[in-house]
Amino acid sequence: MLTLNYANCLSDRVGLHGLQMQTLAPDSQIAQQMARLTASLEKTRNTGWERWRGLPFMPARGEHIRAIRAVEERCRGRFDNLVVLGIGGSALGNIALQSALNPSTHNLLPADKRRGPRCFVVDNVDPAYFGSVLRFCEMSDPGLKRTLFNVISKSGETAETAAQFMTIRSMLIERLGREKHGENIVAVTDPAKGTMRQICNDNGYVTLPVPDGVGGRFSVLSPVGLFSAAMCGIDIDALLDGAADMDGRCSLPELHKNPAAMIAVILCRLAREAPERKPIHVMMPYSNNLYLLADWYRQLWAESLGKRYDRNGAEQFVGFTPVKALGTTDQHSQVQLYREGPNDKVFCFLEVKDFGGDDMKIPAGLGVDAIRYLEGSTFGTLLNAEKRATEYALVESQRPNFTIEFPRIDAFHVGQFIALWEIVTAYCGLLLNVDAYDQPAVETGKVATFGLMGREGYAEWKTKVEAALAPSPCRI
Ligand code: PA5
Repeated sequence: MLTLNYANCLSDRVGLHGLQMQTLAPDSQIAQQMARLTASLEKTRNTGWERWRGLPFMPARGEHIRAIRAVEERCRGRFDNLVVLGIGGSALGNIALQSALNPSTHNLLPADKRRGPRCFVVDNVDPAYFGSVLRFCEMSDPGLKRTLFNVISKSGETAETAAQFMTIRSMLIERLGREKHGENIVAVTDPAKGTMRQICNDNGYVTLPVPDGVGGRFSVLSPVGLFSAAMCGIDIDALLDGAADMDGRCSLPELHKNPAAMIAVILCRLAREAPERKPIHVMMPYSNNLYLLADWYRQLWAESLGKRYDRNGAEQFVGFTPVKALGTTDQHSQVQLYREGPNDKVFCFLEVKDFGGDDMKIPAGLGVDAIRYLEGSTFGTLLNAEKRATEYALVESQRPNFTIEFPRIDAFHVGQFIALWEIVTAYCGLLLNVDAYDQPAVETGKVATFGLMGREGYAEWKTKVEAALAPSPCRI
């Protein structure tokens, strides 16, 4: 079970920069307010844009697992490379799961040492980046026969994914022929509508659903994230078990038993009420495997809560700035700022209690006094000692921080982590009184791109961009 330790966010540790213990007491106003919000989230569970709450549970869970297993069965043993095409909510969860639950060397291992094909999640249209992945696939598999492309797009109109998809489709047609090219494509898209749905229907591609009422950044526990995970040997049942378990804990009305409600209260109050407001949230895993979970969290946090208007239409400009850092690496890069720069941040450490068989002993024998203390210890012990030391150093500088402890890294606990932050986000949406499920500000960039790229009906956007960014003398 993940545990949350928030003692370093309280005033007896960090003075005025923390919350008073009694404000969080069971009979406090805050605890009562959070109990009301928990009840409110129970009412909206599985409705509207909160249908992501149903993903770890039946019937959605059963339907998705069955569909994924059927496609996985068709694909078993046929592919050496899996290339996932998607962006934002259609990619960050996939990247997080692969990096958390497979070794960083997964793609370098020989086939009999890997739990599935090599996996590349290509979430950008940088031609050098995309081109290098395609060239690698062609080099390792000249006919592209053993390369599966998993295109993920709810809409099918996202320019990045569309451009990538058009490229791989044309390559596959060239190599495998029009008749057979679809055997190397699995699409995850809207089951009923949208451009990608139309393309899949027209071409007879195998598809898995992006469930209705589940937005991109809340979709990792649907086929969006689960198909590529299952293909690469990740235990998707355990992921969902973990998420379901955390959902249960985060449905408890008592604030001191509900980790999502507690994190939401701490972060919202410290952002708005501490003597120096703390709207910057640093997620700092002491684990390379967990590092890219912080990228998934950054999208969830930024897109869900960074809003100009509240639910009543009043202009508020709320939100928190998510930052990722890696322990111990960033101790040697960022901690100077974190301790002595503006006191405008709350830190969330991720700590792994037990690295199991991955932990390594530091050998004795060098015999140099200055570093003899390391002899016979383990890397895991050193890593966690450094985390504790940094935690202490931050407390000493009155910088609030909390720790989420993983007993070990496995699918169950990663599932718990995902559900935890999704539910924290839902609570924060209520506390900030914003719609956590829309992203109106992303739209302008999308339509301006359409205009610049010549899409019919969007010419006015090209004109607007060119007027606003007209050539100026401010160029050296
Ligand atoms: O969270 C979101 O809604 C976005 O990040 C989308 O997932 C992203 O823009 C990709 O959209 P689509 O799946 O329609 O291609």
